[in-house]
Amino acid sequence: MFFDLTEEQLAVKEAAREFAQKELKPGVIERDSHMKFPTDEVKKMAELGFLGMMVDPQYGGGGMDTLSYVLAMEEISKIDNSCSVIMSVNNSLVCAGIQKYCNEEQKQKYLPKLASGEWIGSFCLSEPEAGSDATSQRTTAIDMGDHYLLNGTKNWITNGGSSSLHIVIAQTDVSKGHRGINALLVETSWPGVVIGAKEDKLGIRSSDTHTIMYNDVKVPKTNRIGEDGFGFKFAMKVLSGGRIGIASQALGIGAGAYELAVAYSKEREAFGKPISQHQAIAFKLADMATDVEAARLMVYRAAWLKDQGKDFDTASAMAKLFASEVAMKHTVEAVQIHGGYGFVKEYHVERLMRDAKITQIYEGTSEVQRIVVSRNVLNGNLYLPVL
Ligand code: CAA
Repeated sequence: MFFDLTEEQLAVKEAAREFAQKELKPGVIERDSHMKFPTDEVKKMAELGFLGMMVDPQYGGGGMDTLSYVLAMEEISKIDNSCSVIMSVNNSLVCAGIQKYCNEEQKQKYLPKLASGEWIGSFCLSEPEAGSDATSQRTTAIDMGDHYLLNGTKNWITNGGSSSLHIVIAQTDVSKGHRGINALLVETSWPGVVIGAKEDKLGIRSSDTHTIMYNDVKVPKTNRIGEDGFGFKFAMKVLSGGRIGIASQALGIGAGAYELAVAYSKEREAFGKPISQHQAIAFKLADMATDVEAARLMVYRAAWLKDQGKDFDTASAMAKLFASEVAMKHTVEAVQIHGGYGFVKEYHVERLMRDAKITQIYEGTSEVQRIVVSRNVLNGNLYLPVL
């Protein structure tokens, strides 16, 4: 086993850390308070190459491995999870889905725009009545010969108000169940795409989450991803990779809360010494450090498996399940360590606590991750060669 990062990976981590601390931190409280979309910050992320990190350089991307992407996500998520979810959806759902499963013409058409940040993408699967139960799609894509006629409503769409391209999961032939589902590339400028109201959320408040309506949208057949009926498997495969992105977001939240708690506990004095010197606090910090490190190993390993071309479905679900629970548990602890200061915005930990919750919900709830893990484990589909 080899746990060192390469020089390139360390440089990516350092660049992301510097960007997050210098460029994102100063305005993050204000953007969160006013639900202000981080337009300038996303532009800077694009300039730094953070929006198409794993895209092949021939399509204008960074050509980096998944671990580099995870390292950047972790650093950005310590500070601004609205920015990191924008980055995660664009990289690991939209760009990765197109790069792996689209034909050359589709890649040429869309990847350079998405990798450069000229466009942002959205992944549109969730519906008012189909969240965890993803096969129950009500959105329809009726086969009209040379095009599909798309109708339906999608919920909780990240980047919903700012994206130029949607990957839409829709039912073409209900009699075929999940084998009748297609994934379509839909440009938001096309007639019939209607952007609904922006959600007022508990966390990741400056990210742009909307309901989207499709009213008789004509989608050329050439914009279908893969063979007819491939849409559900496409969504499952892409979400499996996406879960590494959200796991790294959760890792960043947990690690960020830990860093803030350590710094505060060394400065703050009570009963004649820094609170870090009181066992009640020191033990909390020890638990935080241990859990964050365990989450880190799981997330990095899932990324490594993906980079090795090995099966990573179980590893990514485990990593997301564990890292999101660590993020939730230890952001609550970080607020507790800060006492009254933890309850006010200026100290950043209350925002991380609010942001942590969504990592247990999107790209598959913790319950969905348990379904994936338990099925794979019970089927003997274990990913660890040592087991
Ligand atoms: N890779 C390839 N194929 C897969 C797969 C995978 N990882 N997982 C399932 N499949 C295949 C199965 O093999 C099966 O195919 P066959 O019938 O040919 O064998 C088919 O897909 C159906 O699979 P299941 O029977 O397992 O399906 P299910 O109905 O029991 O659901 C589930 C399983 C894991 C719960 C799935 O529905 C799921 O992942 N739900 C959660 C969806 C989700 O993550 N939503 C988040 C929305 S996106 C988002 O949040 C984006 C954002 O903006 C942040």
